[in-house]
Amino acid sequence: MKYCILIGSPRKNGNTASLLKPFIAELENQGEEVSCTWLYDKEIGPCQACRNCQNEWSGFGCIQDDDMQEIFDTVYNSDFIILATPIYSWYCTAPMKAALDRLVYGMNKYYGKKNGPSLWAGKKCAIVTTCGYKPEKGADLFEQGIIRYCKHSSLIYCGMLAVRDKGYDAEFLDDEIAEKAKSFADKLNSEQVAYESEV
Ligand SMILES: Cc1cc2nc3c(=O)[nH]c(=O)nc-3n(C[C@H](O)[C@H](O)[C@H](O)COP(=O)(O)O)c2cc1C
Repeated sequence: MKYCILIGSPRKNGNTASLLKPFIAELENQGEEVSCTWLYDKEIGPCQACRNCQNEWSGFGCIQDDDMQEIFDTVYNSDFIILATPIYSWYCTAPMKAALDRLVYGMNKYYGKKNGPSLWAGKKCAIVTTCGYKPEKGADLFEQGIIRYCKHSSLIYCGMLAVRDKGYDAEFLDDEIAEKAKSFADKLNSEQVAYESEV
């Protein structure tokens, strides 16, 4: 299975990156293919709502010349999309929001003269996030947004791993949190196996 992790943290050694380490290690231990895209390293313009993408049903069709085509291709060629982001102002960070906007139009051809397909229907999606508040007050709104985003796009939402940042002086990743991250990877992967065996 191909996992693509879109990383929305500006901090390469920050909390979200720390949480991803055991998560990725577990997926790789289980033989899964994992790619990571650091969105802050990419040029991702905001969607201009020109709807050019709606005339192209075989691919992205966006007229902006930036790194989003490459990100579209990575997502398109994956089975599982992981949105890994710190919470900023109760949602994901700005580069991830820009990428989500570009994908919700570029992938879903619902807005042209004719009602077209979702090009990513049936792919799975999950969240890995860190936040300053307790997750139920810090990451709840982002999760709700992504649940609706998935439903709208015919993606299969598979859950969220959310861990609190207890402050700049506190250790973020202890053994318990690392274990939680591994279990989450294990859960996602076993659901994948169960899903495949049903089809
Ligand atoms: C600009 C900014 C906005 C933030 N907004 C929120 C927020 O709305 N809710 C929350 O719970 N935490 C918020 N936080 C805290 C971060 O989500 C938290 O520290 C996170 O673990 C940082 O992850 P990182 O180390 O990967 O960058 C914010 C932090 C920053 C820098």
